[in-house]
Amino acid sequence: MAHPSGAGHGLNLPRNSRVGTIEPVLSTDDATSLLARPPLSTSENGVYRFVDDGAYANSFGLQWNEFATVQLDTPAHPDSERRMLAESGFTPESIAGRKVLEAGCGMGRFLDVISRWGASVAYGIDLSSAVDAAATNLADRDNVAIGQADIFDLPFAEGTFDAIYSLGVLHHTPDCEGAFHALVPFVAPGGEIAISVYAAVNQTGALSAINLNRRKAMRSVTKRLPKPFMLWWSKTAPPFFVKLAKVPVLKYLRFAFPVMIYTEHPASWSVLDTFDTFATHYESRHREKEVFDWFRQAGLVNIDLLPSEDGWVSVRGRKPAA
Ligand SMILES: C[S@@+](CC[C@H](N)C(=O)[O-])C[C@H]1O[C@@H](n2cnc3c(N)ncnc32)[C@H](O)[C@@H]1O
Repeated sequence: MAHPSGAGHGLNLPRNSRVGTIEPVLSTDDATSLLARPPLSTSENGVYRFVDDGAYANSFGLQWNEFATVQLDTPAHPDSERRMLAESGFTPESIAGRKVLEAGCGMGRFLDVISRWGASVAYGIDLSSAVDAAATNLADRDNVAIGQADIFDLPFAEGTFDAIYSLGVLHHTPDCEGAFHALVPFVAPGGEIAISVYAAVNQTGALSAINLNRRKAMRSVTKRLPKPFMLWWSKTAPPFFVKLAKVPVLKYLRFAFPVMIYTEHPASWSVLDTFDTFATHYESRHREKEVFDWFRQAGLVNIDLLPSEDGWVSVRGRKPAA
């Protein structure tokens, strides 16, 4: 896929680069026009700060700066592109030349995808210091802009974005439905919004229901433990259980511990997801009909329930043209 650039798409965003060489992306007239208010500050890495700190999402700041590149796509492992297609329904054709917002960009794995797909602006916001990892990962992209901002208090002018998506984020806020409704005003008339949240019900039946309850019970303790301890645990335990997963019978021992083990990914994914699952403060789960209704209540049309992987509810809808 062609490497995108802001040139030719109406906005000509300067390079979002590192210390010493940056020209802040939002200092251009065009880019500033996206904003309804100026940032509190601008960091040397080009990140605009609209909040003072990461509040309840600080564990994600720790996580994404510690594991900044683990889930970035590689040619051999394009997992983020696969998830973008499955959980947003957006395609290179629907994104090319569009102004796109990612709400909760983490270290930038999906921004990387839409930047490669040729978005005219790939604007990522996140509440936590994960934005610093995203700025480093995407420092060479002319069409990427990054801000540390809260979904519940976005700094943009209403109707700014042709497409908004948020994958794996809204269920980690204190109010998943409220977070969705907070995003909708920023979709332009005729534009689209897609979200993907944890499913309340897995299709794999009783065993997965038991597993979800196990996870919930363990999380009620682990989310309160000091984050440095959880980071140590996440780096220490999963590699052991990944090895044990090859041993018949003993492999089930992992279900007695707060670990997430993936045998089909590198061990670093198990380390990262153990921290992601057991250290994060908020986690909620939602039914398909419930999420569909949020879209209807927001006045969206052409609402699609997307055929994403088991465990996710992924829905996309369109704002009626003005
Ligand atoms: C599980 S991570 C997912 C990140 C990214 N979408 C991905 O899948 O790699 C959830 C992200 O949501 C962010 N987040 C949580 N609440 C937020 C809020 N109110 N505003 C913006 N970002 C938020 C967290 O900081 C975290 O980086």
